[in-house]
Amino acid sequence: MASRYDELTSLSVRRGFLWPAVDLYGGFAGFYDYGHLGARMKRKWEDLWLAYFLGLGDNYHLIDTTTVLPEVSLKASGHVDHFTDVLVACTKCGESFRGDHLIEAVTHEEHEGLSPADVDAKVRELNIRCPRCKGALGPARPFNMMFPVGVGTLGQDRAYLRPETAQGVYLNFKREFEALRRKLPLGLAIVGRAYRNEISPRQGTYRMREFLQAELQIFFDPATFDSQLPIDAMRDEKLRIAFAREKTEPTASDRTADDLIRQGLPPFYVYHMAMVQRFYLGPLAIPRDRFRFAELDERERAFYNKIHFDIQVSQDSLGGYRELGGVHYRTDHDLSGHAALSKTDLSVLIDGRRVVPHVVELSFGVDRNLWGLLDLCYRAGERAVLQLPPALAPVTIGVFPLLSRDGMPDRAMTLFRELRSQLDAAYDESGSIGRRYARMDEVGTPFCATVDHTTLQDDTITLRERDSTAQIRLPAGRLAETLRGLLDGRARFESLGPPLARD
Ligand code: GAP
Repeated sequence: MASRYDELTSLSVRRGFLWPAVDLYGGFAGFYDYGHLGARMKRKWEDLWLAYFLGLGDNYHLIDTTTVLPEVSLKASGHVDHFTDVLVACTKCGESFRGDHLIEAVTHEEHEGLSPADVDAKVRELNIRCPRCKGALGPARPFNMMFPVGVGTLGQDRAYLRPETAQGVYLNFKREFEALRRKLPLGLAIVGRAYRNEISPRQGTYRMREFLQAELQIFFDPATFDSQLPIDAMRDEKLRIAFAREKTEPTASDRTADDLIRQGLPPFYVYHMAMVQRFYLGPLAIPRDRFRFAELDERERAFYNKIHFDIQVSQDSLGGYRELGGVHYRTDHDLSGHAALSKTDLSVLIDGRRVVPHVVELSFGVDRNLWGLLDLCYRAGERAVLQLPPALAPVTIGVFPLLSRDGMPDRAMTLFRELRSQLDAAYDESGSIGRRYARMDEVGTPFCATVDHTTLQDDTITLRERDSTAQIRLPAGRLAETLRGLLDGRARFESLGPPLARD
């Protein structure tokens, strides 16, 4: 039987979601391309993300910045010195491995944050050999994950492909602060590509060398931020938490926001956890028991973070809870680093006080989120259905003529063309109507409209809903508005009219 991972890979490749890049030449490890459905789904996820997260503040905006950064800027951020994984190479076949992955493969536990000396000790203790050729492993060493780029005709100016979108925001903070009338909190988001020379790219979109991030950096004054947020309104909200000591277990417990604050997490941090959880359980419709925040301890968390919880979703294709994003309290680490190396004052004047703003970063991997949705929404079996939230489905409406005669294709094509200018629509007239529904179900199309004999008399169509397979009759002229209502939650399919009797 195909594994869940193989099942989803097959769906993705067969139907046009995503596949390994450059497969004409045998592929290019760690790089993926999106097909026509994947690209639409990605755009919709990004739009949903932007609408939700920019909506968290009145002064939150999208910017777009360069993906190549000069070395000095990444020295200031700490990436040149600290953005490393531990690499272990085989002395016989030369294959390279991530130290923590070698140990995880034997102990079945996560081992992030080990130093090269720790990895060497574990490799000796567990007598780990090269997984490929069984040769002896060489000494562990730090490996910087950034891709170097030589800029200029002789490549004389050292630069790197950006390892995170966040740095583009920090480099532009002062300009935006001035342009936006010098107010905090200020939120600046980037949705774009980041690059990491991962030692062992694997598990599809989980560990890529070029990937997409959606990150919001919220700059705030630590003296006043808590009082600017409606924290009291969410004190009783239950968050799904696994603290650092609990996260090897595939579970989480409900803790109220108030509990977490009493345990020492800053109120502004807990508030943003709650907003992230609402995004996953609300518009993304992730089942509550598949979602959790997992704490990273001092050894595990990124070098720039003071507090770090991963956003995790349990996915059968990847063997359980896996990270899709993170809530990071970066303090003034980045602005202070850039201020020091650029010799520019990045403090701002707030109520007569000079403040270097602190940052809470809401960071998401777009590719990982899309894969997570495919995993949670795909039901294989006799009737294969991708139960995506309608707003994220690449095609909103399939339009079919019941038969390819009596003028039905012409009416259906006209309807499709009208809808296509307003919504993501697809037209299909090949094969039986059942097969056409099945094709739409498998790619997550939430609604299908069929033109039949009755349409030719009174211009009504049947509208079928993917999940219930119920059908109603509706004037064709009301279809676009009805679909918009269904997408934005103003209308519910059950309330549109009595369902038609099934054949
Ligand atoms: N700006 C903070 C930052 O970059 P990160 O935890 O290193 O933090 C943020 O990355 C998110 O980017 C991760 O939670 C993950 O979803 C995604 N991501 C990181 N590395 C990735 C990779 N190699 N392939 C796919 N997604 C990745």
